[in-house]
Amino acid sequence: MPKLPAPPIPSLLKSPPPRPGESNGAVTPAEEAMEAGVSVVDWIDERTSLSGAARWMMFRKVPKGTNWFYTLGSATMFAFLNQAVTGVFLAMYYRPEANGGAYESVRHITNEVFLGALVRGMHKWGASVMVALVFLHMARTFFFGAYKYPRELNWVIGVALLILTMVMGFTGYLLPFDERAYWATIVGVNINGTGPLIGPYLSDFLRAGPEISAATLTRFYAIHMMIVPGLIAALIGAHLYLVAKLGTTAPPWIKAEKKAQLRRSEA
Ligand code: HEM
Repeated sequence: MPKLPAPPIPSLLKSPPPRPGESNGAVTPAEEAMEAGVSVVDWIDERTSLSGAARWMMFRKVPKGTNWFYTLGSATMFAFLNQAVTGVFLAMYYRPEANGGAYESVRHITNEVFLGALVRGMHKWGASVMVALVFLHMARTFFFGAYKYPRELNWVIGVALLILTMVMGFTGYLLPFDERAYWATIVGVNINGTGPLIGPYLSDFLRAGPEISAATLTRFYAIHMMIVPGLIAALIGAHLYLVAKLGTTAPPWIKAEKKAQLRRSEA
């Protein structure tokens, strides 16, 4: 007797009902928002072609042997961004007044402003983190020989970034205008004064007069929150452009391996 076809299994004919959290085919608000985001980016890209630049910057080949030490530069950059963001919030409350106003505004930030102690702490500790990271990053590039041709200019830009980072630390230290800030700044300005040729002019410029005064505080504040952050941001841009253009250096042990291979193939 011919076999009858097996009865259809209902679950194979119909798609199963959506499980909790699963889409049933209809567009969800989150998907709609994502679509809107994509079309905004497309709209901008059609008019600027910026995606090409972003792709050139982000999608690069990295040498064999790239390791965690290569993240120190980006870590320094994020420390700088942390300083910039927290610094903007501190500037909303800080007053550069030498008659006690500066100290009072810092006390107010720490004790009374909502999350003030946290933001101030992030800025204060972030400053030390940035200084430590910039030195570690410099040590990485030095020990990996990344300062050599064709990256000398990036090393020089790096030295400028290092100096500017130190200037940020020095000028920021005076801003609470307490005893410690006052005496530390006297020491720092005097040390600058011992430098050859420009030393005495530099300390006159920093002091903005014969002694530390209200003029010194406003000068340090201008240097700390406008001049130097702007220079650092511009130099980081140039630094990263050169990193993307030249690529990063392979670790020395990979280079040594390659040289040995070359010698063996020539022999
Ligand atoms: C604000 C400070 C700085 C930032 C944000 C920064 C950022 C970066 C980043 C993101 C990279 C690529 C990834 C990496 O190798 O880590 C890099 C590479 C490099 N940086 Fe810096 N950097 C800073 C300071 C310095 C200093 C102080 C020096 C040396 C004096 C320096 C010299 C270099 C060199 C030579 C390279 C190329 C590395 C290679 O080709 O392997 N940078 N930097």
